[in-house]
Amino acid sequence: MEKELKVQMEGILENQGLARAIAAAYVSQFDPTLDELTEVKTAVSEAFSNAALHGYGGEHTEDVKKTVTMEFATVSAGTIMIKVMDKGCGIEDISKAMEPLFTTDTDQNRSGMGFTVMESFTDRLKVDSKPGQGTTVTMIKKLDTYYGF
Ligand SMILES: Nc1ncnc2c1ncn2[C@@H]1O[C@H](COP(=O)(O)OP(=O)(O)OP(=O)(O)O)[C@@H](O)[C@H]1O
Ligand SMILES: [Mg+2]
Repeated sequence: MEKELKVQMEGILENQGLARAIAAAYVSQFDPTLDELTEVKTAVSEAFSNAALHGYGGEHTEDVKKTVTMEFATVSAGTIMIKVMDKGCGIEDISKAMEPLFTTDTDQNRSGMGFTVMESFTDRLKVDSKPGQGTTVTMIKKLDTYYGF
């Protein structure tokens, strides 16, 4: 792996813009198209908001340290791996959570499309999660425009 970047920040919704900006800055060094830039920014933004809102959103996580770690690296020329990790409440049933329109949000603010967006904007999406321990979202994105120079 090359060009590794690891960022740790507080997992609160106020930091969503910062998470997007960091993702944009990272991917910009590979000369992406505007579409690719938007896709990476949006996928990271969805993963980050999930960590803040769901991972650290429950009452029982109020006194937990809300740390989100984002890792970026290239696994081969023009192929980026991104991890967004939280130590929040975790996900009971991962495949159910990943279904389009599934949400545990009760006040109608959420559409349940975050994972679907991450899936469609990246080439590979993997979710590892354990209730009470946290969630790691791993995404692979190939930049079709990358020629290695
Ligand atoms: N990091 C996480 N920690 C705990 N639960 C999560 C996490 N990420 C997702 N989930 C669970 O998976 C569900 C689906 O997530 P998804 O992002 O697809 O939809 P949403 O966040 O509910 O709505 P939207 O993203 O459209 O605003 C969430 O409602 C939540 O229950
Ligand atoms: Mg979401």
